[in-house]
Amino acid sequence: MKILAVLYKGGKSAVAEPRLLGTIENRLGIASWLKSLGHEFIVTDDKEGPNSVFQRELPDTDILITTPFHPAYLTGDLIRNKAHKLKLALTSGVGSDHVDLNAANEKKIMVAEVTGSNVTSVAEHVIMCMLNLVRNFVPAHEQIEKDQWDVAAIARNAFDLEGKVIGTLGAGRIGQRVLKRLVPFDPKELVYYDYNPLPEAVANELGARHIPDLHQFLGECDVVTVNAPLHEGTRGLINTELLKHFKKGAFIVNTARGAICDRVSIAKALEEGQINGYAGDVWDVQPAPKDHIWRHMKNPLGGGNGMTPHYSGTTLDAQKRYADGTRDILERFFKGEDQIPANLIVADGRYATRSYGERK
Ligand code: NAI
Repeated sequence: MKILAVLYKGGKSAVAEPRLLGTIENRLGIASWLKSLGHEFIVTDDKEGPNSVFQRELPDTDILITTPFHPAYLTGDLIRNKAHKLKLALTSGVGSDHVDLNAANEKKIMVAEVTGSNVTSVAEHVIMCMLNLVRNFVPAHEQIEKDQWDVAAIARNAFDLEGKVIGTLGAGRIGQRVLKRLVPFDPKELVYYDYNPLPEAVANELGARHIPDLHQFLGECDVVTVNAPLHEGTRGLINTELLKHFKKGAFIVNTARGAICDRVSIAKALEEGQINGYAGDVWDVQPAPKDHIWRHMKNPLGGGNGMTPHYSGTTLDAQKRYADGTRDILERFFKGEDQIPANLIVADGRYATRSYGERK
């Protein structure tokens, strides 16, 4: 079979660190195994436009492996008009929104991901981002690098997490892990919004209250973390209109997908102080262009930006888990065995998960 992987470039870092498995250099650690089985394995980071290696190799590819970190956008047009032989679109990681799932359904292409592989890594990142924003960490550190010392300028916009209402939009694997990790901070309350409410026992254990009305949920939170997939129901969800329903001065942490938040609306709300901070690692286009407004946006006090490149789910620990999971999915596919049900997003022409939008 022909297998095409679109991964990110590791450069010197990947040569120095072989555990950087998600790179074009280290090839998910599966290159020699695939070769020993007689498969053709092509790896590239060149993914944009019709002349990219991705698009040129796609027509006779049987299995496409991509990651959310350097997403090769498998659009409806590519699926319908170029991916003639594609049988499996495998996301090495979690989040398959870079694949047009409706088109994959139409063409009966299986879409699978390594569910759960990096959810703890992301949950830890979310907690870090919350503390970063709420405690006004980035401008405080910048002072040190600039040889400055002005405690008041930082402390005037620094708070504790203790005593705050903290909510997750989406309470799946990551959302639940975030809630669990917040308990020791003694928040005033933990709340969540999800159209798949948690089983009562789980919600009770986490001490999290379900608020089924989105506007009410947002109006109660001092800190909102976004942990839902990107799909038709969440694309552009957090826009200027919805931001009016947030508590003034709330903090947003979004490690789910950049396009859930409208780029310009977020920057404007931050600059006007409607929100006090925005952090995360996901962007509406990746890699983010140099002039992306989220790189330099700030609140009126000169802080509130906790953006990084997309790396929360690609720690070395996570890379081992998603590389192993990728191999497992491939092994099952080659042998014609059933996939682990939780790894399936689309199979046999229908959605196999309830996470990508409400479906009866
Ligand atoms: P999950 O499938 O376990 O949970 C997602 C939850 O979101 C489900 O409970 C679902 O009902 C809920 N949901 C979906 N649409 C919703 C809506 N419109 N309103 C409210 N809730 C909604 O997924 P998991 O593992 O928690 O991951 C969530 C997302 O996080 C992934 O889809 C991916 O986009 C992102 N992610 C980001 C990573 C990173 O490196 N930054 C790594 C891993 C995941």
